[in-house]
Amino acid sequence: MKILMVCLGNICRSPIAEGVMQKLAFDNGFNWEVDSAGTGSYHIGSHPDHRSIKVAKQFGIDISQQKARAIKKEDFEIFNHIYVMDRQNYDDVISLAANADQMNKVKLLIPERIVSDPYYDDALFLPVFEMITTQCEKLFAQLKNEN
Ligand code: 4NP
Repeated sequence: MKILMVCLGNICRSPIAEGVMQKLAFDNGFNWEVDSAGTGSYHIGSHPDHRSIKVAKQFGIDISQQKARAIKKEDFEIFNHIYVMDRQNYDDVISLAANADQMNKVKLLIPERIVSDPYYDDALFLPVFEMITTQCEKLFAQLKNEN
């Protein structure tokens, strides 16, 4: 199973989603490839936002060594599922897809609501972490039956 988590900057939300899903897979003995990327290029090469690093660390997940990168067309060939955080991410990622098969790989991480950008509000990092974790647990339970 190969999963790509995507947000705008690849420094706040998708690094958390990568870390959480990676840990779930690893702790359950699954050798999954979980990565993350951004639709924007402002933060390429940066480590995650210190507030994302901190909240993940509180829950035993080290995301400090991740480095931001931009999503690229080849990602659609590599990953089975591409999960995005909000509608803008969805539109931006879909615009890079080459065909319907690739478009079908792109889904909102949480279908019934968006994970909004916590960048401008420190208080949002914990709820964002919790929201992502709850959904990753659900998704892991579904996806582990796919392989
Ligand atoms: P992310 O949050 O998409 O969750 O990584 C953002 C971080 C920084 C910016 C945008 C979103 N920014 O424009 O600098």
